[in-house]
This record gives sequence, C-alpha cells and structure tokens, in this order.
Amino acid sequence: RKIVLAYSGGLDTSIIIPWLKEQHPGVEIIGICTNVGQDEDWEGMEAKALASGASKLVIQDIREEFARDFLFPMLRAGAIYEGKYLLGTSIARPLQAKHQVDLALAEGAEAVAHGCTGKGNDQVRFELTYKALAPHLEVIAPWRTWDITSREEAIAYARRNNIPLGNISEKNIYSRDWNIWHMSHEGGDLENPWNRPKEEMLQLSCSPKDAPDKETELILDFEKGIPVGINGSAMAPLEILAHLNKVGGENGIGRADLVETRLVGMKSRGVYETPAGTILFQALRELEMITLDFDTLEIKNQLALRYASLIYAGKWYTHFRESLDSYMETAAKYMTGSVRVVLYKGNIIIAGRKSPYSLYIEDLASFGESSYNHNDATGFINLYGLATGVQALVHKYRDLD
Ligand code: ARG
Ligand code: SIN
Repeated sequence: RKIVLAYSGGLDTSIIIPWLKEQHPGVEIIGICTNVGQDEDWEGMEAKALASGASKLVIQDIREEFARDFLFPMLRAGAIYEGKYLLGTSIARPLQAKHQVDLALAEGAEAVAHGCTGKGNDQVRFELTYKALAPHLEVIAPWRTWDITSREEAIAYARRNNIPLGNISEKNIYSRDWNIWHMSHEGGDLENPWNRPKEEMLQLSCSPKDAPDKETELILDFEKGIPVGINGSAMAPLEILAHLNKVGGENGIGRADLVETRLVGMKSRGVYETPAGTILFQALRELEMITLDFDTLEIKNQLALRYASLIYAGKWYTHFRESLDSYMETAAKYMTGSVRVVLYKGNIIIAGRKSPYSLYIEDLASFGESSYNHNDATGFINLYGLATGVQALVHKYRDLD
C-alpha cells in the first residue's frame, strides 16, 4: 500500500509521515515536493524526508509550467480576489495537486495526503483537483482528524518521532507561502487586523520609505495579453517575473494588507507581497483600455471577478474555467503592445502605452480640426435620449394627479 504525500519540508507535512505509518502499518509513504519558486534547502530536502520516514521523495521543478499555463492566463484574465488579493497561493495549488495525482497514478498508490488544516482554503483547492483528476483516490487530511491542534503540539510530536526539526522553532509564528508570484503572511500578530505588519516580517519588498529617491522606468511588452519582454528584449516568463520581482521589490511595490473572506466562510487577515504581479496587472490594464472596445472590456471585467472567485475556490480543472479562458483568449487577441511604467517609492506610475491595434485615434479624440462632424451629435442625442424624454413627459403628467 502506497500513499503519496504533498510534502513541503516544513513541520506541518513532516509529522504526517510517522503519523500515517502509525495509522496504516506497513504503508509506504512517497513524498512529492514541487518547486514553484520558494527558497528551500533543495539539497537537504530528500535526506530530511527519508529521515522522517518516507521511502522516497520526488522533487519537481514546475516553475515554467506554473508561469506559462497558470499565472499568465490568470493575469490575462485580470483576476483579482475581493479587489486586492492577487491569488498567488490559490493559483499554485491546482498545479501542485495535479503533479501529486500524476505521481500517485504512476506509483499505483491508493491514497493522496496533504498537510492543510480544516480551517483554510488550501484543503479545498487540493481536494477539488484530486476529485477532478483522479476521483478514485482516497484522500487523507491528517490535520482534520488527528488531535494535534497547535504548533507546540506538532513540535512535541516531531521530537517524539525523531523528525529533524532544522530551523523550525516555536518562534517562527507566521504561516507563509512563497512562490515566483508572491509571498503570503498570515497568523501571529496579524490575527488582530488593527496591528500594522512588522517591517521585519516582509521579505520580498522594501518599505517605500527606504526605496531609492530616483525613479525606475521600464517598458513592458505584451502579446495577446501575455508578457513577452521588457524594454524591447524578448524574455522567458520566468526571467520577466524574476526581473520585475527584483526591481519591484527594491522600489517598495506590491504590498497588500487585507482581510479576505475564506471559502469556509470566516474572515481572515493576510499580508501579501506580489511585486512583479502588481506591475504586470496595472500595465496590462492600460493596454486593455486602448485596445478593447467598450463591450468587450465591460464583459471582460465582469468575468474577471468570476475568474478570480473560481481560482480562489480551487475550481481550476473545470469546464467553467476552460470556457472563461476561451473568452479571455479571444478578448485578448488585440492586447499586443507596450506600456511604459515608472516605479517610485511604492507607486506604479503609468507613463505611456502604445499598440498596433490601438483604438485610440488622435484625430477623433482631439479638440482641434478633425473628420468628426459635430452636427451628427444632434440627431444622435435626440434618438439616444428618446426614452429619457418619454419618461420625463409621462412622469410629469402623473405627478400632476
Ligand atoms: N489566504 C491565502 C489564500 O487562501 C493564502 C493562503 C496561504 N496558505 C498557506 N498554507 N500558508 O490563498
Ligand atoms: C491552511 O489552513 O492550510 C492554510 C491556510 C489556508 O489554506 O487558507
């Protein structure tokens, strides 16, 4: 009997290994750890998993696939949850779960396990993916069933089972998640939403007050709503993200502090650092505004809300997501061009935009001499205002009664 565990190298998933072996004598635990851009001791990870009792650890670098097939389509869609959250963790889970399922199938395992708690969103994202891709697999979520309820108890359990603790300590209070798109911070003193995040907590960005006193200018190039380069040179998705995370972080860009609504219903406080993502979102929005007609843009903005809730809720592997992507792909057909941005002390200043498909015609918009005939507006307003005029008449007579 084999169980494939989504393993992070952290305390929460390490203690699952001895626990599973206790619960299912003779079981073989295979760990999978996906590299989505988090900083890890990749060298030492296998030894740690084996020391914790796993029979094997598979490490997979899925960063490219993550950027190309998940982050960039999400960016193209303009998906932002509750107006602020750029969905960095939410979008990673389905892909991580997919690789876990693939391994479980390849290994002939009968169960998959994860280390998410019963209070959060991540459990839903992992499990909706399992259900979509391999509904026959048994799902084991120890944090929902065992009686370890705190970090202190988890550490004690780890000590009893000789799990290598490394630099894990009672002091590391924040719950964090990190990938090429963002770093999230939850828990600890953040649980009081009146508490300002401590500067030392933040890792990917400096404080705007410590950012350089001079502006950083960049030109971002997009093709069909997808980032393809910076300052005129073509770059791979990972290079673009790495570069923008660096310059964005140095300029204090991409911090968001919010209280979000979890899927299970409760409000939860999170602080996110998403430097590259924040720059790309704002830049693409500008391109959208010069290349899309009113109706396409309006519907795209409405569907973006649904796209965001869908990602937040872990419904990536669904017909609904495919259908929304078809719309987004078509809507983004002309979203090709460049946006000039200036980064300065936490601000993203839009300095210019251009596109071969720009619908902005200087001659039409300008107040000077143009092919636009002012007289045409008279008839247009007469018809356009017909319904308004009719209501004005009718309501006026009625009000006399
Ligand atoms: N609240 C965010 C979300 O639901 C971040 C979750 C971070 N997850 C974690 N295991 N630390 O997407
Ligand atoms: C967890 O409970 O595993 C982390 C938080 C979340 O999933 O929202």
